[in-house]
Amino acid sequence: VPPPTIFSGIQPTGIPHLGNYLGALHQWVHLQNTATPETKLLFSIVDLHAITVPQEAARLKRWKKESLATLLAVGLDPGRCVLFSQSAVPAHSELMWILSCTASMGYLSRMTQWKSKLQLQDNASPLDESSKSKLKLGLFSYPVLQAADILVHRATHVPVGEDQSQHLEFARECVTNFNHAYGPHLVEPKTIMSPAKRVMSLQNPHQKMSKSNPDARSRILITDSPSTIKANVMSALTDSLNSVSYDPVNRPGVANLLSLLSHFDVEGRSAEELGKVHGDMGLGKFKSLVADAISVGLEGVRNEYERILDDEGYVENVEREGGRKARESAEETMGLVRDAVGF
Ligand code: ADP
Ligand code: NA
Repeated sequence: VPPPTIFSGIQPTGIPHLGNYLGALHQWVHLQNTATPETKLLFSIVDLHAITVPQEAARLKRWKKESLATLLAVGLDPGRCVLFSQSAVPAHSELMWILSCTASMGYLSRMTQWKSKLQLQDNASPLDESSKSKLKLGLFSYPVLQAADILVHRATHVPVGEDQSQHLEFARECVTNFNHAYGPHLVEPKTIMSPAKRVMSLQNPHQKMSKSNPDARSRILITDSPSTIKANVMSALTDSLNSVSYDPVNRPGVANLLSLLSHFDVEGRSAEELGKVHGDMGLGKFKSLVADAISVGLEGVRNEYERILDDEGYVENVEREGGRKARESAEETMGLVRDAVGF
């Protein structure tokens, strides 16, 4: 029986926003704080995934450092978790190649996330000429790399947001294909679905909050100042009723704000309850209250982030030590894999 091992990753494509925080980072910290002592925890800055779309080298380096600093700032403890850059562990790429040799093109073309990166409809044919010529091989095959990320550490549990569950299924498919060809060396990972609802864009409550939205007012970064938080929440798209109620179907903008408020509510009330408590409030006053709650809730993260970046060499040390431990963890698997393949 493999020891319990939790793995997850985040792309270094900018400071995490509230969606990343509530959908991923916050849960990672919770898992760290509740896991049994024998559980292994690994969290990766997945820079190999970041280059599936064009990146500028200096900016990517800065984003990597800032991303690792945010993992530390939200409360991940490098004494408890392995925090590392994916590119520091060549075994991720090596296992990806090996998995590619038993993975099915058909299965990959039915996956939908690369379509959204190309701004195609989910039902667009993956093999039509115009999408094929825009699609880079790395963007098409990145689910295989994602599978390798998980399998190379023999992860038993992978916390993900709902947008990622398809990829976990594909990782299990990779295990089946590999183990069928080479013997039972890879471990099937289980999904830990984030309990948080998807955080929606402040400018369009039908779109998820995302790093790639060109409108910076659509999101709140976890290191944003109270004045930026205030400005973005005040400009959030809601509706013309001047009262508060939790009605995700008819009032998605207000529901998104209520659900954010609920995450930062010191009394732990649900979005529904808060909708009733603030029912008679005008939307201007309500937005102001939401902005204040978010600012207060993120204050500790923001201060930690500044402190960590001011601590000369600290992030680099964490990264070096994490890389060393992650290479060790990957080598345990790769020893078995290389032997089974015949290398
Ligand atoms: P992005 O989707 O903004 O490019 P990543 O791909 O790096 O960010 O995602 C990191 C994690 O954050 C993933 O687990 C993903 O499910 C989660 N996540 C991203 N956006 C949201 C959102 N709007 N709401 C909830 N979770 C999200
Ligand atoms: Na994503």
